[in-house]
Amino acid sequence: MHRKLARLAVILVVFSMVLGMAGSVVRAQDKIKVGLSFSDFATERWKNEEILMRKLLEDKGYEVLSQEANHDVKLQNDQIDNMVSQGVAALIIVAEDGDAVSTAVNSAADAGVLVLAYDRLIKSPNIAAYLSFNNVEVGRQQALGVLTALDIDGGEWTADNPVKLVKLGGSPTDNNAILFRKGQDEVLQPYVDSGVIEVVADQWVDNWDAVNALKIMENILTAQGNEIDAVVASNDGTALGALQALKAQELAGVVPISGQDATADGCNSIVKGELTVSILKDIRNLSPLAVDLIDQLLKGEDIPDLQEYTMAELTNDDTQEGSVMAYFLPVVQVNADNVYDLVVASGFQSYDDVYRDIPEDERPPRPALPTAEATEAAS
Ligand code: GAL
Repeated sequence: MHRKLARLAVILVVFSMVLGMAGSVVRAQDKIKVGLSFSDFATERWKNEEILMRKLLEDKGYEVLSQEANHDVKLQNDQIDNMVSQGVAALIIVAEDGDAVSTAVNSAADAGVLVLAYDRLIKSPNIAAYLSFNNVEVGRQQALGVLTALDIDGGEWTADNPVKLVKLGGSPTDNNAILFRKGQDEVLQPYVDSGVIEVVADQWVDNWDAVNALKIMENILTAQGNEIDAVVASNDGTALGALQALKAQELAGVVPISGQDATADGCNSIVKGELTVSILKDIRNLSPLAVDLIDQLLKGEDIPDLQEYTMAELTNDDTQEGSVMAYFLPVVQVNADNVYDLVVASGFQSYDDVYRDIPEDERPPRPALPTAEATEAAS
């Protein structure tokens, strides 16, 4: 009798475990899937944004699928196709190539999947929306930061003694690189026209790759016999690559140079007096915006903040047709004067990362906790 009861108890326990497991399987299957597709994780920001968006989506009850394509256009399309066949309802995509990704995006849209172009434009009329920063302003601030450091209007620079300037664009397959260049040129061109700036080299850095930037800069320095006065580079990664080449010629800290993203290494270079200017794009605001938008779109809610932009204006290319609903966040210039307040006190980068290798007695005091005001000021 005793044994019979014990066996029954075991059967009951096993039965309830099986039921419980089945229950949780059903619950997992019930979850709506959202896919994240990244061009690469070589640039610091993308991994941070993956962590942020995954958490925010999971908190809202979504199941998250995520892939990074290691700069491989075909791989990114395959990964997107694959996530569509796994049943995602929506995709948030950082495109390696805004043209080539359209193939996968169009078939995802045909399958009823909502596609959000994240930070970089996707040149397809089938995207639900595009969220980014004011990318033309990024370029303006990069050029302004460099020209301010040169004291361009101070009298030293004239058509007889022009600034010898290097332009280092980003990846040519990234539409943002075109917009950064547009903003840079708005600021630089009047000086080029008056002869006060001479552009001695103008190159694009495939994949935003720091090693490519280093090689390009080495070649330019050789070709120009080291006679370089300024570099307008388009992000921190490529600027730090170029700075290695400048350093080898003892020109780091002498030649003003711009970056972007306020990365840990970029800000460390600013406090060391090597990188002149970076641009803070507060991803702590972009990622929640993207997640909220996807959530609202999936629930069929209204999205009042978006505005319609033509593809032509977003690409700086009149031949592009159609329009897209988009929203752009503001950007701020980061330099030696404001890096502490904007980046460190706001908690965007850690104190230890930014002041790495700086002697204790040359560091500012460690901030208490990121204050709400500092976070606000940075956004
Ligand atoms: C751009 C992005 C920048 C930078 C760069 C390299 O599209 O807007 O913030 O990270 O790519 O990945």
